[in-house]
Amino acid sequence: MIIAVDGPTASGKGTIARRLGEYFGLPVLDTGLLYRAVGYQTQLNHGDADNAADALAACDFPDDLLDDPALRFESTGSLASRVSIHPAVRAALFQRQVDFANQPGGAILDGRDIGTVIAPHADAKLFVTASAEERARRRQAEMLGRGVDVGYEVVLADIHARDTRDTGRADAPLLRANDAMLLDTSAMDITAAVAAAIAFVEERVRRP
Ligand code: DC
Repeated sequence: MIIAVDGPTASGKGTIARRLGEYFGLPVLDTGLLYRAVGYQTQLNHGDADNAADALAACDFPDDLLDDPALRFESTGSLASRVSIHPAVRAALFQRQVDFANQPGGAILDGRDIGTVIAPHADAKLFVTASAEERARRRQAEMLGRGVDVGYEVVLADIHARDTRDTGRADAPLLRANDAMLLDTSAMDITAAVAAAIAFVEERVRRP
């Protein structure tokens, strides 16, 4: 079974993917982490994230970079969003994601283009979203929990910028697949969102 979980930043898709992984006993790939590694490696190389050649050169980042806590930084998320615009970067990361999706026994992947490009044949597709204001509130609370105090307006502006870039790019933009379930978590807590996701996947698998 392959489950695709797509959605914008801070929608809760990562948590939902992880909980689905625990529930169904499937491995989970956070594909955003790959783009974050490329963005961060570009910076380590003193390259420019907006330059396609610099970003492509960073695609052979060492595997242990994926464990670096710096990948979780807000600033790394912005770098990831910038390098992810380049078709050459998307092409370089493509096979790794396809191989993960098609491993025997199944897999769950979360990202932006899983249901549309990486695993269009997925058994169940979820498009997780929430209003930009709610996502900004969650992101700010999560950052405060880590001791990082950034104003709400700053967080909201960053979310709008990322949405615009991720949705507006020409190659594999953030897009709800026709057959994806829309899960708007604006008025849900994470327990309710996970329960809805599990119910949807079980229904899909029982009646494809
Ligand atoms: O999910 P995330 O916030 O960690 O992703 C960081 C950036 O990576 C996101 O703004 C766009 C890019 N990305 C992408 O283009 N395609 C994916 N499948 C996952 C992430």
